[in-house]
Amino acid sequence: MIGIFDSGIGGLSVLAAIARALPQADLIYLADTAHLPYGDKDDAFIRQRVLDIGRHLVDLGCTLVVVACNTATAAAVATFRDAFPDTPVVGVEPGVKPAAAASQSGRIAVLATASTARSERLARLIHRHAGKVRVDVEACPGWATRVEALHLDDPGFAAEARRHLAPLLASGADRIVLGCTHYAFLIPMLEPIVAGRAQLVDVADAVARQCVRLAGATATGDGRLTLLATAHPERLQAALPKLGLHWLTPRLLVPARLTRI
Ligand code: DGL
Repeated sequence: MIGIFDSGIGGLSVLAAIARALPQADLIYLADTAHLPYGDKDDAFIRQRVLDIGRHLVDLGCTLVVVACNTATAAAVATFRDAFPDTPVVGVEPGVKPAAAASQSGRIAVLATASTARSERLARLIHRHAGKVRVDVEACPGWATRVEALHLDDPGFAAEARRHLAPLLASGADRIVLGCTHYAFLIPMLEPIVAGRAQLVDVADAVARQCVRLAGATATGDGRLTLLATAHPERLQAALPKLGLHWLTPRLLVPARLTRI
């Protein structure tokens, strides 16, 4: 069984990619909605949540855990690996490497939460993989919360997104990395803004491929999905069709459940 978690619905974009890549695998998705958003919390808080959720997922029988959150990965994936040396862990990091490799203009940008934007892990990732490519990191406070409220085609939000993207596009960035799993659900809103000038880069499929490599042969099951949330489980389940993920609903044998961690 594969355990996947995020602060809220963002990691559902990663869950969907994993469910497509490993249709037989039994999956548990946990949304830490009682503590959302992670992006404005300090590292110590995020680390403790990641350790507590990781313990819970391992106790439920998960043999692979996916931290489907850039913020939690940046703050805590190393701590998580130290605490659970026998459990393979897959983190999610902004796609700086593929974006830098594909850039024609030599400039790319990363959109992320405030926590990820200031993280040492992102700085190291850029240093390691961006080479001579110039990388602008743009913190987008409040975006994850607006996605969580399913304000996906709100004109005010689109105007704000345009304001964030305008200087990045004007400076010639031709790859815009979605450095928060929530932002994958903004692709329909962001695509027209960047069209003709830049491409959006999301890593959900790459994360799914890593899960196939780590769990492939052992990821057998009935393709069941369990949804857990630390607050408002009914909202998590109701979000599936609104995010274009109605095809996951038949995999639920029981309704989304509240879990206290
Ligand atoms: N979806 C998360 C990420 O990838 C966190 C968003 C948040 O809770 O602030 O960064």
